[in-house]
Amino acid sequence: MEKRNTFSGKIGFVLAAAGSAVGLGNLWRFPYLAAKYGGGIFLFVYLILAVTFGFILMVTEIAIGRKTQLSPLAAFGALSSKWGWVGKLATFVPVLIFPYYCLIGGWVTKYTYAMIAEEQATAADSYFGAYVSATTEPIIWFFVFLLITTLVVIFGVNKGIEKLSKILMPLLLIITLALSAYIVTRPGSKAGIRYYLMPDFASLSFKTVLAALGQLFYSMSLAMGIMITYGSYLSKEEKIEKSTRQIEVFDTAIAFLAGLMIIPAVFEFSGGDKEALGSGPSLMFVTLPKVFNAMPAGKIIGALFFFLVLFAALTSSVSILEAIVSGLIDTFKMKRGTATVLVSVYGLVLGIICSLGFGIWSDFTIIGMSILDFMDFISNSIFLPLVGMLTCIVVGFVIKPDAIISEVELNGPFKMKHFYTAMVKWIAPILIFAILVSGILQSLGILKI
Ligand code: TRP
Repeated sequence: MEKRNTFSGKIGFVLAAAGSAVGLGNLWRFPYLAAKYGGGIFLFVYLILAVTFGFILMVTEIAIGRKTQLSPLAAFGALSSKWGWVGKLATFVPVLIFPYYCLIGGWVTKYTYAMIAEEQATAADSYFGAYVSATTEPIIWFFVFLLITTLVVIFGVNKGIEKLSKILMPLLLIITLALSAYIVTRPGSKAGIRYYLMPDFASLSFKTVLAALGQLFYSMSLAMGIMITYGSYLSKEEKIEKSTRQIEVFDTAIAFLAGLMIIPAVFEFSGGDKEALGSGPSLMFVTLPKVFNAMPAGKIIGALFFFLVLFAALTSSVSILEAIVSGLIDTFKMKRGTATVLVSVYGLVLGIICSLGFGIWSDFTIIGMSILDFMDFISNSIFLPLVGMLTCIVVGFVIKPDAIISEVELNGPFKMKHFYTAMVKWIAPILIFAILVSGILQSLGILKI
């Protein structure tokens, strides 16, 4: 068997994994979920889940990857022949995410262009609504984004993108930091900061916890085989526990700052009305242009900001597509070009359906959700927790936690060892199951608490 490449340098692995993790999940999805699910309480629940479930699952996946040296499709089968299907289920999740991820990528592409061409107009209340409900325009931008993603994967220029991301990702961190500092020092932001940072336990519900759990997995690319793949490229000298912590801190910091930038701005520019907070996927696109319009040099800063978000989205969409394509190559021995085109065409069709869901098909809803929201719900609130739970069960009862612990301990002590065993065996699977079931029942309106 060909020897797997390993990452060069200490920081290489952390940067690559964090680069894949940081994307629209942090910048677009986290702020709108936090706004919708009560602000501070969502943030609070998210942080608790990140240091518990997020931590153990990421350690587990990286360790499985490094231990087996296999792709997620094969890794579960190698651990236990009976449980190989969990790997298949995990690699199926990116298939669900890919179409609408690229559609949002298209929105970002459009806004990067619009910031340059017609910055003032983007600040109008009706601008976003008019854009997404149009029939052709959003599909064209979606196509552009999808095409770039496809070309990168076909021509295998990921290496170049990775190099570029070492410059652009830190720049994204800096601009997000600067923008959130600008927003929180504005006079009208107090109420928004309070809403975002002070947990209000009265708005805690199973729905909130399920949303936070799904977001955690989505944002850190967990429960979809991605971290197993990264782990399989990790050298045996690296410390898994420490790397995990660094990736988590980086990913959470960007999400936190994105919230700090967007939520107070919603309060300032929309007078804090509940409707604006609950606006969902459109939140970032409606709110930020107003901020840019009101600030000095907003046009340039706005264009730069959306360009960096676009880049972050592209690095993620490329690795989502790459994950699906390598799954197809492994399973069906397909050629890279054929597999890539096939997945892209599938993505195009489903993405168009999602896009039309905001326009001519907006009357069509599934359990009260738009088509995009529904795809997002199925993948993140159902599949991700499910795969996360199954991973814990396989580790806890089939291969046993010691197998993971010994992999982590190859170089240095595993500080959270006892916590890990209890979590992966009992606490995590039972709680994930409870959150999953009650969250779904609540979303369907069956359970009301
Ligand atoms: N974690 C990415 C984000 O926050 C999104 C994502 C989901 C992803 N699945 C992935 C990225 C697979 C890379 C590979 O935007």
